[in-house]
Amino acid sequence: MPRSKYEHLTIDCPLGPSETFTNKGIQNKYLVRLENIVAHNQLLMASLRKLRNFYHECDDLRQEEIRIARSVELLAKEQPDAQKFGSAYGYDELLELRAAINYQHQLEQGVDTLVAESGKLYQHLEQKLSELASKGAKVFLNFGVGLAYVDSLVALKHPECHFVGIDRSEFTQVVNHRCYGHISNLECIAGDVFELLKTRRFDNGVLFTARTLLLLPRSFILKLYAAAAEAGIRQILAVEQIGISRYTGRPYEFSDEDKPSVPFRAKMFLHNYPSLLNAAGFPVKESQLIQTNHPHRDFRFLSVLGER
Ligand SMILES: C[S@@+](CC[C@H](N)C(=O)[O-])C[C@H]1O[C@@H](n2cnc3c(N)ncnc32)[C@H](O)[C@@H]1O
Repeated sequence: MPRSKYEHLTIDCPLGPSETFTNKGIQNKYLVRLENIVAHNQLLMASLRKLRNFYHECDDLRQEEIRIARSVELLAKEQPDAQKFGSAYGYDELLELRAAINYQHQLEQGVDTLVAESGKLYQHLEQKLSELASKGAKVFLNFGVGLAYVDSLVALKHPECHFVGIDRSEFTQVVNHRCYGHISNLECIAGDVFELLKTRRFDNGVLFTARTLLLLPRSFILKLYAAAAEAGIRQILAVEQIGISRYTGRPYEFSDEDKPSVPFRAKMFLHNYPSLLNAAGFPVKESQLIQTNHPHRDFRFLSVLGER
């Protein structure tokens, strides 16, 4: 059997119970009270712990099933207005603001020591964007910028380049202005990416995304990549989370051929990025699997670069 071109992106890591079910602690106040009453009885405590574990697993399994069912429904819908708040894709505006602030706090604590995905993601993006800038790219568009931290680092390192970060949230724009407003070659816009691509040229530019496309439907990505080509974009970099699908229980097998997307976890999807890039005329030039410090054993990033 010939080796697949994207075999290195296939995650070889079967899920154990702790990865399959999220652990949120006891939620039932009566069980907590009961636990307090019998706290001094070792035998009862041991039995209660067993009961609690059983309850816990049933509850987590039920919650996970509800989440998966929602993802399957969302994936099937392929709504045309997926970019709008209230479309059910992605999060709401306050949650997105909270995410940007949370990422800012992570930076204050030092991302390298965090048990999270951000550190390795930022390192990879910084390296990739710097590489593209060194090879001559002059304009970069970050779709779904969130906190423009990496953009700010590379903008400072490459004053000859112009960085545009677009986010649908006006709140995020305020955070970015406050943190990075002093960087003259970094522009943070609040608005719809399709409006921007319709009204501005990005000739020979780079479009990049991080932790964004996996929240949006496949039809949105096809539309985004086609709009990017129309606006003159030459390279597209997608750095998106992947892992074992909580729906199929299997890793996604990436391919240059068209393949359906599948639910990943919560509101996230596993898309066939190589074929989506191909469809818009950006064949894949580089692809990489990135492991992070996230405690879930199967959580990874995929990084693919397509070029026209
Ligand atoms: C999960 S966040 C990712 C933030 C950031 N890239 C990171 O890795 O930290 C996805 C972002 O995409 C933005 N977004 C979604 N659809 C959009 C659209 N059509 N136009 C502009 N921004 C959009 C959301 O507002 C959200 O902040």
